[in-house]
Amino acid sequence: MLGAFPQTRPRRLRQAPFIRELVRETRVTAGNLVQPLFVAEGALAGPIAAMPGCARLTLAELADAARRLVDLGIPAVALFPVIPQALKSERGEESLNPDGLVPRAIAAIKAAAPGLGVIVDIALDPYTSHGHDGLLSADGAVDNDATVEVLRKQSLAYARAGADVVAPSDMMDGRIGEIRRVLERDGLHNVLILSYAAKYASAFYGPFRDAVGSSANLGKAGKQTYQMDPANTDEALREVALDIAEGADMVMVKPGMPYLDIIQRVKAEFGVPVAAYQVSGEYSMMKAAAAQGMLDERAVLMESLTCLHRGGADIIFTYYAAQAAAWLRESAR
Ligand code: PBG
Repeated sequence: MLGAFPQTRPRRLRQAPFIRELVRETRVTAGNLVQPLFVAEGALAGPIAAMPGCARLTLAELADAARRLVDLGIPAVALFPVIPQALKSERGEESLNPDGLVPRAIAAIKAAAPGLGVIVDIALDPYTSHGHDGLLSADGAVDNDATVEVLRKQSLAYARAGADVVAPSDMMDGRIGEIRRVLERDGLHNVLILSYAAKYASAFYGPFRDAVGSSANLGKAGKQTYQMDPANTDEALREVALDIAEGADMVMVKPGMPYLDIIQRVKAEFGVPVAAYQVSGEYSMMKAAAAQGMLDERAVLMESLTCLHRGGADIIFTYYAAQAAAWLRESAR
């Protein structure tokens, strides 16, 4: 038990850097971080207005980025394709193209940096003309079981193309089990599944949808019939339980900082590897505030990552991954 004051003076443990260093409970390292990368070709490549400092990379730039991330100690990247409007369709068939942008991006990364983990997003929104993550039925609703059929094929296509981790971000029911079965049947026993298990219908995804060009297609339609209500917690635990039972190796909570309570409960209840996604809106808020001199970008970023880690996230997806790793390296010197 703690003694009373003055036997116990909590400030003794904070008086100088040496003691703060010794008693620090949580350390976020480059090894905890995943760098999301946007990939595009031709005129679609280039800077992303809503996410200053981020760009849609060409395949050649992707290879350079991969080598740099390895040097920085980042273990893995998460790939997000941006394809021309002309390749988008009602049923998102381009998602299954074995010579599509994602399979070629995987090959480019593996050639440049063989040890870098490649995580691919499984969902149809980059490929559908309506911008939804799934297929629509005649009444315009997102059709769960028909979508799962496609996600299963998409997972197999990308796993065969060399993806190390498939990360379904669509929130359809039952897709983890279907994906796990098809991977096992194909002998792809080592392909990991990182399930976006507790993914909320969040306004913080706005800049991402601009980056991949799905926001115009989506129009006013929301994703509330499949993504979770931000007001719910118990439901997140049910989603996570189902995905683990169906064969997920790791689970994601998304967005990150406003959902720390969810991250903490998931970690405490299940003890599996938990990922948090510091999403585009979180990134753009920090960038905008920093650009206006309102916040110290480096300090706020490192605090936010530390807090996500302290809250229970083993893995943190952040658009700041490379920058954070460079800053971590600098402060270690
Ligand atoms: C879509 C997907 C989204 C993100 C990752 N995969 C957006 C959405 O659900 O609309 C969001 C990432 C971010 O905002 O940084 N399957």
